[in-house]
Amino acid sequence: MKIPLEEITKITKELESKTAEELLKWALENFSPKIALASSFQCEDSVLIDMLYKINHKNFRIFTLDTGRLNEETYEIMERIREKYGVPIESQFPDREAVEKLEKEKGLYSFRQSIENRLECCNIRKVVPLNRILSQLDSWITGLRRVQAVTRANTPKVELDEPRKGIVKFNPLIDWSNEQVWDYIKKNKVPYNKLYDLGYTSIGCSPCTRAIKAGEDLRAGRWWWENPDQKECGLHIHIKK
Ligand code: ADX
Ligand code: SF4
Repeated sequence: MKIPLEEITKITKELESKTAEELLKWALENFSPKIALASSFQCEDSVLIDMLYKINHKNFRIFTLDTGRLNEETYEIMERIREKYGVPIESQFPDREAVEKLEKEKGLYSFRQSIENRLECCNIRKVVPLNRILSQLDSWITGLRRVQAVTRANTPKVELDEPRKGIVKFNPLIDWSNEQVWDYIKKNKVPYNKLYDLGYTSIGCSPCTRAIKAGEDLRAGRWWWENPDQKECGLHIHIKK
């Protein structure tokens, strides 16, 4: 890290005015090699991978949290991205014993029974593996956008990751609209997850994601049995002040 953490907090407002490409360039210059893109191969992640490639060719890192419950289409796009850009994808798997214990004690669909059970599954399959890789990094890049959810409406473009002390989080597309994302994908011929052609607008694990109906919001197909203000899995936590 070339810039001390205290400095980052002072310049977050200034960084807010950078375009996505400018911010990625700045982030790579100041944090490489201890910076990586977190990708679940949603449309936003496709955009960021294309931008990172254009800025730094193959010299950037991508990791994905492979929960073991992803859609086949997600593995297909992952492979297309790997082939097109020639970058390795660092898959992070959940702890084997924790998954075995969960499935043995609660079965394969415990997450449908209660919020606690859902968070338990997300914690084992996503949050613990995320914390593991972040413990080796100084910063991460995400595809978060404010319009995705009420829980994200006030998320800044650059922030100190509150629950993970000392980690800087870059959200270069935070102020992008849906149209901007899809215009970029079409204009730059970027590979995208085929589930979008089937009516999906947000993509997570297969049993917890479905296509939306006309008029529903972007994340209505994620954990559709829960209230919108509860739909976070613990990757993106904001402590209420
Ligand atoms: S989540 O918290 O509800 O799962 P969401 O699916 O909206 O998050 O994705 C927002 C961003 O979080 C993605 O653009 C990506 O940066 C990161 N992310 C989400 N899921 C994963 C995953 N399985 N692996 C890596 N990054 C992920
Ligand atoms: Fe488990 Fe569903 Fe969370 Fe995936 S999204 S980790 S299957 S609860």
